Amino acid sequence: MISEKDFIFNQNAALISEGGFEWSAPSNIALVKYWGKKANQIPANPSISFTLNHCKTITKLGFTKKHSDKLSVTNSRFSFDLLFEGKPKEDFKPKIQKFFERIEVYCPYLKNYHFIIDTQNTFPHSSGIASSASGMAALAMNIMSLEKELNPRMTDDFFYQKASFLARLGSGSACRSIKGDIVVWGNHKEINGSSDLFGVELPSEVHANFKNYQDTIILVDKGEKQVSSTVGHDLMQNHPFAVQRFSQAHQNLSAIKRILENGNLVEFIKIVESEALTLHAMMMTSMPYFILMKPNTLEIINKIWSFRNETHIPLCFTLDAGANVHVLYPENYKNETLQFIKDDLVGYCQNGQYICDEIGFGSQLILEN
Ligand code: PMV
Repeated sequence: MISEKDFIFNQNAALISEGGFEWSAPSNIALVKYWGKKANQIPANPSISFTLNHCKTITKLGFTKKHSDKLSVTNSRFSFDLLFEGKPKEDFKPKIQKFFERIEVYCPYLKNYHFIIDTQNTFPHSSGIASSASGMAALAMNIMSLEKELNPRMTDDFFYQKASFLARLGSGSACRSIKGDIVVWGNHKEINGSSDLFGVELPSEVHANFKNYQDTIILVDKGEKQVSSTVGHDLMQNHPFAVQRFSQAHQNLSAIKRILENGNLVEFIKIVESEALTLHAMMMTSMPYFILMKPNTLEIINKIWSFRNETHIPLCFTLDAGANVHVLYPENYKNETLQFIKDDLVGYCQNGQYICDEIGFGSQLILEN
């Protein structure tokens, strides 16, 4: 079994002096949710997600060697400039600093370089769509490209596995944004190769019903969340329903694996909607308790249920840690569903905004030099 130690860089290669890369990485939407973690970003339960295609972060990493070729120069600091959409962004720096600190033991060459990190999102700023998953995934890909320069014999499998491992240390769910269309993160007895340390592509033949699955994100509330995911995860420690919740997630993952193989959309809807409501139920039953849904979140859910009852179109909703609603549906119901969204849901969006996305395949290299 792969352990943390396997990800420690221990080559004696000469450090290259300068270069740069550019990667994009998408957001993802969990079907079985990760909510609750142990030390070092180890999930309390396994999760599974669809990778998105259009909601992405695009990050350029430029690097210049600072001084000696000796790894991990003591007492030195991380050195980086951070640009968001081309302009310096000081308030993002502490997050990156923390990320570098967490991954330093695995990437001891980081302190030998000065970095220029230039990042942008394809989705509107502060749309309420979390950019931490795509952002950390895109940065992790760039760092692995640098590491591959230092260790050209690295296999592709290791490259993507360590990228997911590093992304996880930045933001847990980011490890599911590296590679593949349906990604599992967390040990699960029925999923070969699954690990708490990194995401793996679901190793099953997925039914045609789930190819090109659509996700239209209804932007209900674009404000800052009142409670961050980090605080929410921590509140699962000592949560009165934690034990049952973590065991339910294992069962739901077994069930959804079967469903993704056999194409049963009715069963898919049951698991996905129940997972979304359970996630929010955990928030409402934490101490302190909190609510991230807004009145319009519930209006939209009710509209989706009525529309599904009337038309038998197999659309469903899921939620992440916020008020926005993800409407999930098979590609062959795209026209009817988009019409329904325009007619019945747009009135509940902030400024009438929604984003049409669909399943994608993970990070992409844009430039290397
Ligand atoms: O990766 P984090 O710490 O932002 O947590 C994400 C948690 C959920 O989006 C609510 C669920 C999930 O599995 O993505």
